[in-house]
Amino acid sequence: LARGVTAPDLAGRHVVVSAGGTREPLDPVRYLGNRSSGKQGYALAKAAAARGARVTLVEANTGLPDPAGVDVVHVGTAVQLREAVLKAAADADAVVMAAAVADFRPAAYATGKIKKTDDGGAPTVELVRNPDILAEIAADRALPGQVVVGFAAETDDVLANGRAKLARKGCDLLVVNEVGERKTFGSEENEAVVLAADGTETPVPYGPKEALAETVWDLVLPRLREPSA
Ligand code: CTP
Ligand code: CA
Repeated sequence: LARGVTAPDLAGRHVVVSAGGTREPLDPVRYLGNRSSGKQGYALAKAAAARGARVTLVEANTGLPDPAGVDVVHVGTAVQLREAVLKAAADADAVVMAAAVADFRPAAYATGKIKKTDDGGAPTVELVRNPDILAEIAADRALPGQVVVGFAAETDDVLANGRAKLARKGCDLLVVNEVGERKTFGSEENEAVVLAADGTETPVPYGPKEALAETVWDLVLPRLREPSA
């Protein structure tokens, strides 16, 4: 193929990508959230569509426009994201969890706005754990040979943390970013190492999120099950 022409190597495949960051409501006007921009997930969804896949993008709070040719499901919370991803994953060849899922949510939702009291005190917010969507999908694959990919932002011993997380999650590939000042959140660029369950490591040099997206699909491709006739 000529340069700039994308091979339709994901034609006939259904892939699911989650993107953005969940928001966990405290009351009608407040939430616990995170700084995920959703750009990496959108780059993954667009790249897969350009490579011929049917793409379901489960989006949480990005504010980004729906990419052309992609089925977009809009969600808010981790529980909603889990529901939408599990539903879409039922017939998916690959699931890529690029979303930043809140680990905790407020134990209770106040139906009225939480108000200050005259005694100068402050409320204590009790949190409960959210479900681990990636671990659940990896442990309980909807189809045999479904490829499951996670993302992790790590500090300190990035590779050791990534290896441990890959094993804990039970996924096939884990894209590990080192987080630091100029890196990752909200930026256009990314640097990563993709760790595979088979022990291989693929470094991805600092560059646009589109390039990392292509590398992820390049690594998913040989791991896909035989296409059904
Ligand atoms: N993830 C998920 N469900 C959660 C939390 C995380 O599916 N409740 C997914 C993310 O989408 C990501 C991967 O798991 O693909 C790794 O997320 P990360 O926050 O790095 O992992 P955690 O297990 O939450 O570990 P940590 O305590 O380091 O936050
Ligand atoms: Ca987490």
